[in-house]
Amino acid sequence: MKIAFCGKGGVGKSTIAALLCAGLREEGYQVLAIDADPSPHLGRLLGFEDSEKLTPLSEMRDLLAERAQKQGPYYTLNPRIEDLPERFMLTRDGLRLMVLGAIREAGGGCACPEQTVLRRLLSHLILTAREAVVVDMEAGVEHFGRATVVPMDFILVVTQPYRGSLETARQILRLARELRMERVFVVGNAVRNEEDEAFIAESLGVKPVISFPEDEEVLRAERQGRSLLEVRGPCRERARELVRYLKTHGA
Ligand SMILES: Nc1ncnc2c1ncn2[C@@H]1O[C@H](COP(=O)(O)OP(=O)(O)O)[C@@H](O)[C@H]1O
Ligand SMILES: [Mg+2]
Repeated sequence: MKIAFCGKGGVGKSTIAALLCAGLREEGYQVLAIDADPSPHLGRLLGFEDSEKLTPLSEMRDLLAERAQKQGPYYTLNPRIEDLPERFMLTRDGLRLMVLGAIREAGGGCACPEQTVLRRLLSHLILTAREAVVVDMEAGVEHFGRATVVPMDFILVVTQPYRGSLETARQILRLARELRMERVFVVGNAVRNEEDEAFIAESLGVKPVISFPEDEEVLRAERQGRSLLEVRGPCRERARELVRYLKTHGA
């Protein structure tokens, strides 16, 4: 399954993406995590200490162009995860990490080429039933404009129970509808009680499929720079539930 995390900056996309990777691993999935945030830190949350040395996926563009020249207009990216070039990937304990990267000029510039590489990669990858790709998207809605999300099986829209993040979530839900995406689910974060949960449901017109609480363990791990893969506690439990939910609501 291919899963993308979207939402406003700071709502907990990377945190929940990392926790989901942990949950998927536990269920026996081989996981490819892709950090598509221009200021990447998913690698750190997953305990990869050398992730800044990784060749960003955006540089695959040259590789793709090279192959296209040699082999005609349809570039032949091998569609299996294990065939992706090693230099774009870090691997540890059944978990792989790729970083999209985005070099933008100050005062504007465009992430279009990066989004194109990512979209092509995502739509080409053929996964077995025991493989999962988890993409931590850039905050906001640019990847909807570029239709980067279209190859995904699941869009998880993370929101907290406050207006700013709900506004972004609403925008994402609308754009996803326009793209006719089917499995678009709201995930609550920092949800304290039923009132918070109800506020999200009322604001968006749909209930969160899972809500994550504020979690001391997550907070502590972040402060100490520890991997979220090791975190136990309520958020990890919710991540497990989220895996079960996705498994039963797939295509
Ligand atoms: N459920 C949670 N409990 C405790 N802290 C959290 C939780 N979710 C996110 N955080 C913290 O909030 C901050 C922002 O989360 P992050 O995942 O980086 O957001 P985003 O990727 O959406 O920008 C981080 O410091 C993270 O540790
Ligand atoms: Mg993030």
